[in-house]
Formats: sequence, structure tokens, C-alpha cells
Amino acid sequence: SVIETEDAAYDAEGYTHFMRKEIHEQPAAVERALRGRLDGRFHTAHLGGLDLDPREARAIRRVKILGCGSAYYAGQVGAQLIEELARIPADAEPASEFRYRNPVVEADTLYIAVSQSGETYDTLAAVQELRRKGGRVLGVVNAVGSAIARECDGGVYLHAGPEIAVASTKAYTSTAVVFALLALHLGRIHDLSPADGRRIAEGLRALPGQIEEILRQEDRIAALAADLAKYRSMLFVGRVRGWPVAREGAQKLKEVSYIHAEAYPASELKHGPLALISPDLPAVAIVPDDELLDKNRSTLGEIRARHGRVITIGHTEAGEDAVVVPKNEPELDAILLPIPLQLLAYHAAVALGHDVDKPRNLAKSVTVD
Ligand code: AGP
Repeated sequence: SVIETEDAAYDAEGYTHFMRKEIHEQPAAVERALRGRLDGRFHTAHLGGLDLDPREARAIRRVKILGCGSAYYAGQVGAQLIEELARIPADAEPASEFRYRNPVVEADTLYIAVSQSGETYDTLAAVQELRRKGGRVLGVVNAVGSAIARECDGGVYLHAGPEIAVASTKAYTSTAVVFALLALHLGRIHDLSPADGRRIAEGLRALPGQIEEILRQEDRIAALAADLAKYRSMLFVGRVRGWPVAREGAQKLKEVSYIHAEAYPASELKHGPLALISPDLPAVAIVPDDELLDKNRSTLGEIRARHGRVITIGHTEAGEDAVVVPKNEPELDAILLPIPLQLLAYHAAVALGHDVDKPRNLAKSVTVD
């Protein structure tokens, strides 16, 4: 297949790997996710496939998001966005767990299944179980007409285009963007003010250009990745909005570079993992310039005091081990912050000579039970 050849066949567009191509397609993918969905008059978002009138949307008391792997982490970003912007209690859970635990299904909960491929069996089984019990399920799916898309009551397509590399990049980012649109939509039906609606909409419109800015730092991030590739293990830490970002960063690194990576909420370090800190275990810290910056800085201090190397991804920290991303609205931080981590994982894998697009033991979509 094209993926297996290392010659010019796939190089047609100048990329050596699908993963890198897909990372670079993100500005365009985000444009497509946003296209025609922002309403400049009422400062809200319209999502055609939702099939949820305002009265039904107001009656939602809880949102439960289900997905596997990166789809689950993007779902965690979505849950935070929905809570922040719409003030509806929301959480995410691995679909692979949910389906086995005889879940309580409530009529006023909105269930959302997330899947790039739309064929992940665990997610499909969770949707089927929910529908069987009378739950209302929306899909946030990339593959049009896929099994999960067909099984749901309604939903939103990502329009990210085909994603070939096993490690999800553009679908992850587009999922987070679609959740921001959904949170804006639900928020404006609930209590999000027009001014805040406009602020979020403008933030969303700025994303493609800001992703370009991050991608322009690729050479620097590649050099950092080549250096980090010498470690056997890495820690990823983040707080609240940074926590799903840390999880996704660790997931990407594990998948393609095979470097052991563990994500921890920054606040949990002192409850155990601080014992691991040493010069051999670098920590990648997600440090956005938000209301938790001081807290995050004190965590960085705790790691450095134990001679741990800290690599920061954020807005304010500077130096050789810092990657600075452009500032947007704080609620949207979890959309931009993973992008340097995708590049870090990709270039670490390249430095180690791994088969980036087809990591060992993994399939693009897990369609078995
Ligand atoms: C992502 O990098 C992974 N390969 C994996 O976690 C993936 O996100 C998961 O298997 C879910 O796939 P889906 O989005 O196609 O359902």
C-alpha cells in the first residue's frame, strides 16, 4: 500500500508520513469544522444534524460523553467546555468501560458518542446499550455514514477528511472544535451572554491562523523531540483544562515513539508520583496563562527542586525547554495546546526510526469486541 512504500509515491504532497501531513492539515480541517456553523447575529453556533430544539436543549440536565482513547480525551475537553460555557454538568468516560458497567441511563441526560472512524466496536456497543435503554445519543463522528453515525439519534460531523495515520491528530483537534461549537450553542440557549458568545466565536475564528503559527515552530519542536527521545519515560502534567491535554500528549508519545509516558493531573503529583521525579524523568507541563498559572508554576518549582527537567507548553514560560503557543480565549486553550505535543511525539518517533504511521500492535480502528 502507499503507506508501506517509502518512496515518492506518498511523498507527492511533500510529506513523508501521513501523521505529519495530517498535523499540517489542521488549519484547513478546523476551517471546515467551523464553516457555516457560526452565527454572527446571535453569537451562537448552529449544528444542523443535532435535531434538538431549544426547548429540548434547555431540558438537558446532564451531558455524558463516551469515546475510546483520543476520542475519549477529546470528549473530556468537550465535557469541560460544556460545563464552562453552558453550565450543564458534563463528564466523559471511556465507552469501553461504560458498556460493561450496567450504567444508569437517564431521560434528561444527553449522551454523546465520539469517534473518528465511526466503527470502534466499544463505542458502538455503548451507543447500542444506551439506545436499548431509551437514552438519547448524539454522535460526534468523522466518517460519514459509519456504523456509529447511523446508530445515533443525531449528531455532528467533523468534516476533517480522511485520517490515515493510526495516531489521531486532526480528528482530535476537530472534535475539540465541534465540542466548542456545541458548548457555545448550548451555552447561548442557557445563560451564556451575547458578549461571551461573541468572544468565543471570535476565538474559534482565530484558531486556523494560530495553528499555522504553532506549525511554523516545527523545526524547534523537532530538535527538542530529538533530544527528548533519549529518555525511557516521561511525565505529562496539566491542571483542569490542561489535564486532558496532558493525557492526549502522553497518548501520542506512547503510540508512536514507544517511550513510556504517564499523564497526571498536576495537583495529584504530591499525592504520589513526586517520588518518581529525577533527572531521568522529564516532565512535560501544560501551563496556559489562565487563573491557575501560579498554581502550575509552583508545581514546576516542585519538579525542578527535585532536579527534574521540565518542558513547558503554554503562553508565558520562556527558554530552550519552552514551547509558546498563541493566546486565545482561555476556554479554548485545550484546542491549541495539544498541537506542539503532536509534533513532539511525531519527531521523537522519527528520531527513533519507528514506523510512525503504523505503530506496532495498533490498528487504526478497533472494530473487534
Ligand atoms: C488515537 O491516537 C488512537 N489511535 C486511538 O486512541 C483512537 O483514538 C481510538 O481507538 C478511538 O478511535 P475512533 O475515534 O475511530 O473511535
